[in-house]
Order: sequence, then structure tokens, then C-alpha cells
Amino acid sequence: MFEQLQDLPADGLLALIKLYRDDPRPEKVDLGVGVYRDSDGDTPVFRAVKHAEQRLLETQDSKSYLGPEGDPEFVAALRPYIFGAGDGYGTRLRGVQTPGGTGAVRLACETLAEAGASRVLLGTPSWPNHAPIIKACRMEPVPFTHADIATETLDFDALLSAMNAGQAGDVVLLHGCCHNPTGIDYDLGQWAEIAAVVAERGLFPLIDLAYQGLGHGFEEDAAGLRLVIAAVPEAMLAYSCDKNFGLYRERVGALYALSGTAAQADTLYSHLLANARANWSMPPDHGAATVRVILTDDALRGEWDAEVAEMRARLNAMRGALAEYQNVGDIDLAAVGHQNGLFSTLNLSPAQVLAMRASHGIYMAASGRINVAGLNERNIPHVVEALRSVA
Ligand SMILES: Cc1ncc(COP(=O)(O)O)c(C=O)c1O
Repeated sequence: MFEQLQDLPADGLLALIKLYRDDPRPEKVDLGVGVYRDSDGDTPVFRAVKHAEQRLLETQDSKSYLGPEGDPEFVAALRPYIFGAGDGYGTRLRGVQTPGGTGAVRLACETLAEAGASRVLLGTPSWPNHAPIIKACRMEPVPFTHADIATETLDFDALLSAMNAGQAGDVVLLHGCCHNPTGIDYDLGQWAEIAAVVAERGLFPLIDLAYQGLGHGFEEDAAGLRLVIAAVPEAMLAYSCDKNFGLYRERVGALYALSGTAAQADTLYSHLLANARANWSMPPDHGAATVRVILTDDALRGEWDAEVAEMRARLNAMRGALAEYQNVGDIDLAAVGHQNGLFSTLNLSPAQVLAMRASHGIYMAASGRINVAGLNERNIPHVVEALRSVA
């Protein structure tokens, strides 16, 4: 049977980790892998997470099975962060815990396909796993240009045209904040326009929120998507806690679904549970239990909030420091200062990316995507020098 299979290309970013590790040059810089790093280049466990884990260790008295819905208290504790305190959706809005944001996107797509959806409008470039998940769920990704990389500008007209050309029942996948890989988000006025068109055209919004808190703050990062959800009877939101709690390998996420009526929400919920069961039976517990402990304890929540604020401040400071260089050849570094979250995509060809790796030990994705958290005050001049050498 396996003779039928052909080699698939290895994941470029994972290969980059090994290349970086094996590079002996002390001045090398890793702007590749998509995790937060502090100014020493470390990705430490959050202090709030350590404290919550300690508490779990002392108090957890069983590892018996939960259900396909995971930890309902975790799902409930996260809800006001996303939808606002007292969101008013009642039991029309239901949520289940998932293995990371990836599991949430997968569960959303499977359930939407089951409900009859066949097309997903998807801005490009996007997180590289979006299109494969959509296709794996037997739907068609319908691409439109999210942003022009050469000028690092949002192509809002392309989004509006794609939505206006969409058919009722088409899904539109939107990044809630801190767009991966461009860092280019919609402002509130644009979100309001999106909400109006989505409602008018009968589109189904699927919002992917993987970096809440890393842009401008928890409320600010959710303000736009809330406008869209408020404008429609039905929507889904895929959430990841893996970045804003630093829990990456613990696989912590949730999928929320809004239905037109409470009765429809019950039916939909039964499908979410059945699809979760057929995929992973139930999500891993530890990370979500840790998040639940943090979010339901004032002191731990305060500690976590401060840690996220620290990350956000550092990301924005690095963006500001890079932006001070304005333009390097055709690369608009000033634009990086207006973008959000972990990532920006620079106007670099794969050949230029390779040349920077060879000459200066700068490691980044071939697409020109940089992880802003890989920058620090010491290495920025070296990175800019490398950019100058190829620009
Ligand atoms: C836009 C987006 N969605 C979802 C995910 C998946 O996150 P997780 O690691 O929780 O599966 C990522 C992770 O990189 C992402 O960038």
C-alpha cells in the first residue's frame, strides 16, 4: 500500500530550527520559529502557569476521563475575554475545549462541511495550515489577497470584493488579531464594514483568534471581531491559548459556535461533540486545567495579565526599534511599527532570505516572515545590516 505514496516536502520551519542550532556563529539570529521569546531569546514557562501547575499538582485528585467537550469551566472562564462580559448570547453560544487552535479550526471546518458549507474565502498569505485543514475537510479554499507584501499594505478592497462576490453560506475565515504571517490587521472602521457585508451577503464568519492580548490588549484585540459576531445569527470562533499562556506543547484551545436559536445550538453542540469524539475522543487536560486555575483566581489572573502585558510591550518596542530604520532598499521597515503581534512579512525573495542566512546568520522563513520576538536591542543593528546587504 505504501508504494502508492510519494514523498512530501519537509516542513521548512522545522528544518530551519536544526540549521540554526548547528550554526556556530555567535551573532546568528533566529527569526523563524513562531514562539514568543524574551530579550535573552528564551521561551520560559509563565510564572502564573508555574503557580497554577503547582496548585493542580497539590489538589487534582483524579485523572479519570472527562468528555469530548473537555473542561467546561475552562471554556466558560475564557468566554468573557473573547465575547465580552455579559455577552448576551446565552445558550445560543456554546463552546468546547479543543487540542489547540489547530484542533478548533479543524473541528469548525469539519462541522461546517457537515452542515453543507463548501467554500471558504481565505485571505492570502495566511497561516500555512489553514488551506490544508479546509481541504482535508472537503471544502474549497477561495483565496483573495489579504495584503500586498511588496508594499506591506492591507488590500481591503480585495476582501470586500471577495465577500461581495461570495454566495450565501460561504464561509469567510478572518484572523481576529495579530495576523499571521503579516501582522496587518483591520481597524475598527474596517471591522464594521466587514460586519455589514458579512450580514448583507449571508456569509458565515469563522474567526481564528490565536494571539489575543499580544496586539493592543485583551479588549482591544477582540473589539473588531465582536462587531462581526454581533451582526450575524451564526458564527464560529477558534481560539488558541498556546501563545498568550505560553502553553504551546500542551495544546490548549477552544471552539465557540453561535447559533440562531438555543434549540439549534443544542443540535450543533451534539455535532461538535460527535466530531470531537471521532477525531481525538477528548482533548488533553493539563493545559486547559492550568488556564482554568489562572482565570478563576484573581491573584493568578493578575499575574498572568501582567506577563502578557510585558510580552506585548516588548513586541511593540521591537517593532518600534525596527521601524526607526524607515526604509532599507525596497523593504519598508516603518510599516513593521504599525503591525501587530509576533509576525511581519518583509519584502524579501527566497534568494535574499538565503543570502542573509549565508552572510549574516539570519534565519527566517523563505517567505520573508519574521518573528519579531526574535529581535532584541543587541541584534537589531546586525539584522538591519544583513537587510542592507541584500536590499
Ligand atoms: C492563525 C493561527 N491559527 C491557529 C494556530 C494554531 O495554534 P495552536 O498551536 O494552538 O494549534 C496558529 C499557530 O501558529 C496560528 O498562527
